[in-house]
Amino acid sequence: MTALRILTDAAARLEANGVEEAALNAQWLLADALGLERLNLLADLSIAVPEAAARHFGKNLKRKESGLPLAYILGWQNFRGLRINVDKRVLVPRPETEELAALAAAHLRGRGGELRALDYGAGSGAIGLWLAHSFPGLKVTAAEKSAKALACARENARALGLRARLDFVRTASLAGLKGRFDVIVSNPPYIPTGVIAGLSPEVQSEPRVALDGGGDGLSIARMLVKFAPGRLKKGGALLLELGAAQANCLLAGLPGGVWTGKKVRKDLNGLERFLYAVKR
Ligand SMILES: C[S@@+](CC[C@H](N)C(=O)[O-])C[C@H]1O[C@@H](n2cnc3c(N)ncnc32)[C@H](O)[C@@H]1O
Repeated sequence: MTALRILTDAAARLEANGVEEAALNAQWLLADALGLERLNLLADLSIAVPEAAARHFGKNLKRKESGLPLAYILGWQNFRGLRINVDKRVLVPRPETEELAALAAAHLRGRGGELRALDYGAGSGAIGLWLAHSFPGLKVTAAEKSAKALACARENARALGLRARLDFVRTASLAGLKGRFDVIVSNPPYIPTGVIAGLSPEVQSEPRVALDGGGDGLSIARMLVKFAPGRLKKGGALLLELGAAQANCLLAGLPGGVWTGKKVRKDLNGLERFLYAVKR
């Protein structure tokens, strides 16, 4: 069968099962089965798909139909050009978090001296690893509650040749950490507990600890806001990714005597998602 025929059938099957971006998912899965880049596959859809590749594709198509995130099936997610390995131990890094990481980088660019960053709730390690990759002199601490996620972040650091640049700390609170940072960046769990059951099967197959932010979604973010002043250098920034409306809600409560330059930044969809505040 040709790639075009396989893709057309697969996209129809995924769509019938309510999978979003059905055609795109089918393309990624077939490219993976053929060992091709997706764009190279699209360049010639008349190729015949060998039987072994078609079988591999069929197996993964079923996994996608069952609601698994594409990145879990492929085993990786691109994060600002870095290949981050992911599996069920960690949240799949999102495009919005790439924006958050870029905001952290912009703050670091304006700082001097020995730079230190804290990636709090590191998950796969995507944010901290990309920052370490982007700033050769930067020391990064990756803090995480889940031992399984921390193991994944460590594996990614090794795979990317960045292991020596990161410290890994297992903790459930910022209060337990030592040292002072130029930037504390975090994409904490921020989904209100009661909302989780209504989310897509893809999201629900990600670790609960990566999603559940308590009753109003802000319990971990509030803890970060409370302890961040004690862990930031003067002029250091706290950068949080939150749900729409949550960032403004939290920002309003930040004391002006402690924080300056308080801002809520929009993501590429125009949603006010990122809290940015600088320690006086
Ligand atoms: C939304 S995920 C973000 C993962 C990764 N930073 C990213 O953006 O893809 C939140 C992460 O915070 C971790 N986490 C949850 N509660 C925590 C806590 N109290 N302290 C530290 N980490 C926590 C979860 O295990 C999860 O890996």
